[in-house]
Amino acid sequence: MKGRITLTMIKPHAIEDGNLGNILAKIQMAGFKISALKMLRLRLNQAQEFYKIHEGRDFYKPLTEFMSNGPIVAAILEKDNAVEDFRKLIGATDPSTAQEGTIRKLFGLNTRENAVHGSDSDENARIEADFFFSLLERY
Ligand code: CMP
Repeated sequence: MKGRITLTMIKPHAIEDGNLGNILAKIQMAGFKISALKMLRLRLNQAQEFYKIHEGRDFYKPLTEFMSNGPIVAAILEKDNAVEDFRKLIGATDPSTAQEGTIRKLFGLNTRENAVHGSDSDENARIEADFFFSLLERY
């Protein structure tokens, strides 16, 4: 049985663009239950910690700077097969190659400003959910 949770961040540009509500609506219409939610601004060192697995890649510095440059919304999403189904809903990392109708196609600007993050495995979903939320903040 696949894990039931995934972790998403709505990225700063998507909030700045006024698309937070549109994105949350898409997520709920696709059958995900939002079991934790918060808006916050990551400090640079927190963005670096979150994206630690990408340390050393050429996009790491601009990505972590961008992600700490404005508020994000983090959420735990619950559904059977959450990680895989959410990755289908958001589409490819590069919005220009994402399928029509996906969140990144609709609201992403480029590979870095791609509207949302989604966990890439059940193990990372648990690690990322713990990064943002205590047990008291989950419903
Ligand atoms: P995200 O799902 O947040 O996880 C890692 C992020 O790194 C990814 O979305 C992209 O925003 C970013 N990323 C991955 N590959 C590249 C790349 N080749 N160039 C720029 N950014 C990238």
